[in-house]
Amino acid sequence: MTTLLEVKNVSKQFGKDTKALSNVTFSVKEGEFVSVIGPSGAGKSTLLRCINRMVDTSSGEIIFDDNYVHQLNKKELKKVRTKIGMIFQHYNLVNRLSVIENTLHGRLGYKSTLAGALGLYSEDEKLQAARILQILGLEEQIYKRSDQLSGGQKQRVGIARALIQDPKLLLCDEPIASLDPNSSKIIMDHLRNICTSMGITVVVNLHQVDVALKYSDRIIGVNSGKVVFDGTAKSITSNDIHQIYGSDEGKLIFDLGGSHVS
Ligand SMILES: Nc1ncnc2c1ncn2[C@@H]1O[C@H](COP(=O)(O)OP(=O)(O)OP(=O)(O)O)[C@@H](O)[C@H]1O
Ligand SMILES: [Mg+2]
Repeated sequence: MTTLLEVKNVSKQFGKDTKALSNVTFSVKEGEFVSVIGPSGAGKSTLLRCINRMVDTSSGEIIFDDNYVHQLNKKELKKVRTKIGMIFQHYNLVNRLSVIENTLHGRLGYKSTLAGALGLYSEDEKLQAARILQILGLEEQIYKRSDQLSGGQKQRVGIARALIQDPKLLLCDEPIASLDPNSSKIIMDHLRNICTSMGITVVVNLHQVDVALKYSDRIIGVNSGKVVFDGTAKSITSNDIHQIYGSDEGKLIFDLGGSHVS
């Protein structure tokens, strides 16, 4: 399998004192499902944001799909970003817009500012949006306002908006942190399915170790801005979890097994 993403010696410093990432190095192959886990403040969100340059790295290299992300100009970056879908904990939908309008926003990266502002979408794009919403079980909600949806439904719209970009990579920052176990399972099942059957690579930040273990091909453990574990979900030990979390908290979650999502 070919490498889709390379993170090489990436560091990120905020201000004088906060080193959010220190010499982070790893790579992700096409079609892999990778979870990033670690305690609060470890640098997980910063890492995801560096990958699509929502945050600029202080040093190091990010290479996505043969592009040196840190070297791209504005126009090149816009183009590369169409291939990277983002999914957020709080969905980031436009509340007053309908489900299909929010989904179509995923096409904005392909349009001029004016066409985007006028909401000029082709028939093909609308059909594609409807098709994706159907796959995600939202066919009944297509014309509903987004603020009338449940959290789990909102997150599925977030996924639809990312998918209509036709991405190679999905970056998901705590996609289930605001959801109950049932909705969490639905979202994680969709993400896994998107990876396995559509071949889209998934990198997801998670707080729940048991969920990470259940769904991922690989786990990257981060503590204080450093990668302290990088290996398969199968190979991880409770000692590794202890290293990642630096406390008994992680070990406890690990010992409890897959009780959160069944
Ligand atoms: N824009 C910013 N300005 C200054 N410091 C920041 C900024 N973003 C993150 N940080 C700091 O960088 C460190 C890593 O934060 P980050 O949000 O990446 O952690 P995290 O692992 O995602 O945490 P959580 O699990 O709570 O979401 C923290 O010390 C945080 O305070
Ligand atoms: Mg975070």
